[in-house]
Amino acid sequence: MSTQDILGQLAIDMNRLLTEPAGSRRVKITDLTPRDGQQCKLATRVTTDDLLPLCASLDNCGFHAVEVWGGATFDVCMRYLKEDPWERLRRIKAVMPKTKLQMLLRGQHILAYRPYTDKIVCTFVERAIANGMNVFRIFEATNDFRNIETATKAVKQLGGEAHVEVNYTVSPVHTLEKWMEYAEQLIEIGADWLSLKDATGIMTPLDSYRIIKGIKDRAKGKLPVLLHCHDMGGTSSMCHLMAILAGVDMIDTVLSPLSFGSAHPATETMVASLKDTPFDTGIDVKLLEEPTRITRQVKEKYEQYETGYTGVSADVFIHKVPGGMISNMVAQLKEAKRTDLMDAALKETPSVEKDLGHPPLLTPTSQIVGVQAVLNVLAGERYKIVTKETSDYVKGKYGRPPGAVNPELIKKIMKDKQPDYSQRSGEMADPADWDKAIKDLGPLAKSDEDILLGVLFPMQAKEFLTLREKGEVGQATG
Ligand code: CO
Repeated sequence: MSTQDILGQLAIDMNRLLTEPAGSRRVKITDLTPRDGQQCKLATRVTTDDLLPLCASLDNCGFHAVEVWGGATFDVCMRYLKEDPWERLRRIKAVMPKTKLQMLLRGQHILAYRPYTDKIVCTFVERAIANGMNVFRIFEATNDFRNIETATKAVKQLGGEAHVEVNYTVSPVHTLEKWMEYAEQLIEIGADWLSLKDATGIMTPLDSYRIIKGIKDRAKGKLPVLLHCHDMGGTSSMCHLMAILAGVDMIDTVLSPLSFGSAHPATETMVASLKDTPFDTGIDVKLLEEPTRITRQVKEKYEQYETGYTGVSADVFIHKVPGGMISNMVAQLKEAKRTDLMDAALKETPSVEKDLGHPPLLTPTSQIVGVQAVLNVLAGERYKIVTKETSDYVKGKYGRPPGAVNPELIKKIMKDKQPDYSQRSGEMADPADWDKAIKDLGPLAKSDEDILLGVLFPMQAKEFLTLREKGEVGQATG
């Protein structure tokens, strides 16, 4: 589809809108402020006590769902906040009786950095639903959808709402045909929604239009389509508008104090922009005043966690490194007392991404690529040191790489063998994980929820549950 074709199609779409009444193609909104928003801008450090008034207020606004869990929630809750992430979910549920709660789930990796068995994935989903979760955004960083099937089936069987995601990136492998091939695979999985996600913030408005248009054509009304895009490159609200013109059914937003830049377009901005158009969200912008005020107070209280990488940085179009990953690279170089190498590390990143077959850069692939790029410049020789994660990635534990992996790198890691991508990563999981966690935690684990903490984050869980045993948790503030 050439740019001319896209613009021609757009003119037809715009013309049709002239005759459509306000609200006739209502666009739904999912607000991400309590999870993705605070993760992008405040390093996930907001305590449950400070989230509850915000969540209670968001419950009155009429969103399709509110995202409250996933990503870094478990790790940060236990490591820094000394909070039980399951308790966070139950407390939020108690103040949000009217709105569906949403979480982000890394397919077979659940919330962590290695694959788990189908049984553990199903147990996690079952416990999440039992504790109040409703909507699951399920993805696999490399877009190897074999790794989201188990979680999707479990969510559907247990009465949850399954959203399957395709991760956007820009690379020679990711052509429009490739996106459409992905869309067709996802439509067949049997989910409730299909989500196009740009976690890096490099989507352009015309790409948003042509990909969403193509997905909508293929979905043929079988399932609705949503767009999730970060704003590192500053294009996100344009992408949202173009996706809406292409027929998208829902967009993800964050309340204005934590919006744009490394996060997403502002909820208030999108609601106001669509008012009285065929796409009117039906949300009263006045209802957003209270949660916005609370979010502003939260932001002021936690501003020490705002890094220099939370605003728009349009050089992301060159290095494709998302905000969270830049902060980690800076930290890694600071530790080695070599911050002078930051520019070199950013230049090395696209080369590592190419060597690994162009994976979209979001957790965990963003961390794998970022750490390896920093090591390559620190060592002064590429792949002199190869991390366990890079090695596992090449072997297929993070899913099938989208493009060809550099043969020299394969040789370095696997000697004369070749990686076998015919196995999905769930089959490479350790079947003893559950029993190991039980043995390791001993009497500290009181429930399946505790055991899951131990399975996913062994070190943090042991430390946290030991503190809980001594009655020393839940007192941490800002
Ligand atoms: Co996101």
